[in-house]
Amino acid sequence: MKNQNNNEAVKKVIDEMNVILADQFILYTKLRNYHWNVTGPYFYALHTTFEQLYDEMALGVDAVAERIRTLGFKAPASLKEYLKLATLKEDEGNYPHFTEMVENIANDYKSVGIKLNATAKKFQDELNDEVSAGMFYGLVEKYQKHVWMLKAVLEK
Ligand SMILES: [Fe+2]
Repeated sequence: MKNQNNNEAVKKVIDEMNVILADQFILYTKLRNYHWNVTGPYFYALHTTFEQLYDEMALGVDAVAERIRTLGFKAPASLKEYLKLATLKEDEGNYPHFTEMVENIANDYKSVGIKLNATAKKFQDELNDEVSAGMFYGLVEKYQKHVWMLKAVLEK
């Protein structure tokens, strides 16, 4: 029974990981959208920054998916599933002003960071899985830094 409860507890946290993976994939796609479609006086800087961020996000997606596999579960791996699972919204057919792009990306990193942090804490406190927790906290640290840097772009 204890074991069964434990399995249920693990499954619940894995469900949260699936949502995080989906959100990461949405953010990855949005970064590509903005990398391609950004315009304005800071084109080169933002075009380059968005590329660096989606390259990093691709690694983050891989790390989370492979952690799900390491823990014995299948990783969601289709755009249809990601769209269903994700809490972040795509920016389809929309090419906002560059300041709005920066703000949207900063807000998305903030949102994923908050979720990652909460899930990391569950790994640590509820499942005694410090390794998964540590991996997630590492991503949170990166995402918090991106929020700071992106918001700094918008400061007057
Ligand atoms: Fe490119």
